[in-house]
Amino acid sequence: MQYKIALLPGDGIGPEIIAAATQVLDTVAAKFDHKFQYTNALVGAAAIDAVGDPYPVETDAICKQSDAVLFGAIGDPRFDNDPTAKVRPEQGLLKMRKSLGLFANLRPVQLFDSLVDRSPLRPEIVRGVDFLCVRELTGGIYFGERGRTGISGDPDEQAFDTCTYTRTEVERIVRMAFELAMKRRRKLTVVDKANVLETSRLWREVAQNIAKEFPAVETQFMFVDNAAMQLVTRPVAFDVMVTENMFGDILTDEASVISGSLGMLPSASIGSEHALFEPIHGSYPQAAGKNIANPMATILSAAMMLEHLGLNAEAKSIRHAIDQSLAAGIVTEDLLGTHSTSEVSAYISDAI
Ligand code: IPM
Ligand code: MG
Repeated sequence: MQYKIALLPGDGIGPEIIAAATQVLDTVAAKFDHKFQYTNALVGAAAIDAVGDPYPVETDAICKQSDAVLFGAIGDPRFDNDPTAKVRPEQGLLKMRKSLGLFANLRPVQLFDSLVDRSPLRPEIVRGVDFLCVRELTGGIYFGERGRTGISGDPDEQAFDTCTYTRTEVERIVRMAFELAMKRRRKLTVVDKANVLETSRLWREVAQNIAKEFPAVETQFMFVDNAAMQLVTRPVAFDVMVTENMFGDILTDEASVISGSLGMLPSASIGSEHALFEPIHGSYPQAAGKNIANPMATILSAAMMLEHLGLNAEAKSIRHAIDQSLAAGIVTEDLLGTHSTSEVSAYISDAI
């Protein structure tokens, strides 16, 4: 089969890890007799530098014409340290999520056995961790009305951000989380702050209703502060966790370190028409161009992309090759290895 893949390398280590992933994808294509037809597109600081827009219309069009999008990373310290910057790489990311309708962000957290000692948590706490965070991605405080009122510099000057959710927005993500739980260990934790926030009370009401359609799923409600604690005290107790945009942003960073390296975690952002796959880690500017970044999160994101396209055996071959690479110690420095980005991807390709 032939598939159209949009490649958005973005900033920092983005180009290197995307090159690593396409090397692996090409090997999969040869082995399973597929053709991946890539189209490159600009995003992030790279796009600001080239055309003054972090998510140009051409990029949007290329994404919309593709079967899937493989995304590297965005972010550049030049913008982080300038609070007055008019245009930021991150705006591109939010525009892209909204335009492609990517309302569900899936971040699986899994501990590879060979990395148990790399986790900041004790082995007896993390061994066997395997859960899925489902983060709402196109609503809430990220997209609500924001601004300033009053006179600039005045003590009464005010800033505000608003968090809003419609019932439909909550229903579609919560339903997806229940469906995912059905395919896993059938346990769903709905994370909110319903003791304080009205949006959270809507979430809880919606989730309680949908739970009736999924009697096989054990549903649990948890306040976000408690969830933050349970993630580090009893992470093995989670199966699927669903939450709103900003809670999900924070909890998934916390959850990500459990696995031993941020460099291991893939993600999928799914909508009803489009899907995008990217590593959880950012652009890691200090490592850009050095061929030292761990490509595994991006390669695993490519595996999630293949699963999304229905290519399960192909995805499995990638996961298996990653296991072999870990077992053989062919890993980058974040995993205390001595191998380069391209050596790791070459090993994984050969293993496939
Ligand atoms: C993420 C990132 C983004 C977010 C930033 C870069 C805007 O932290 O994908 O989790 O907050 O969603
Ligand atoms: Mg984040």
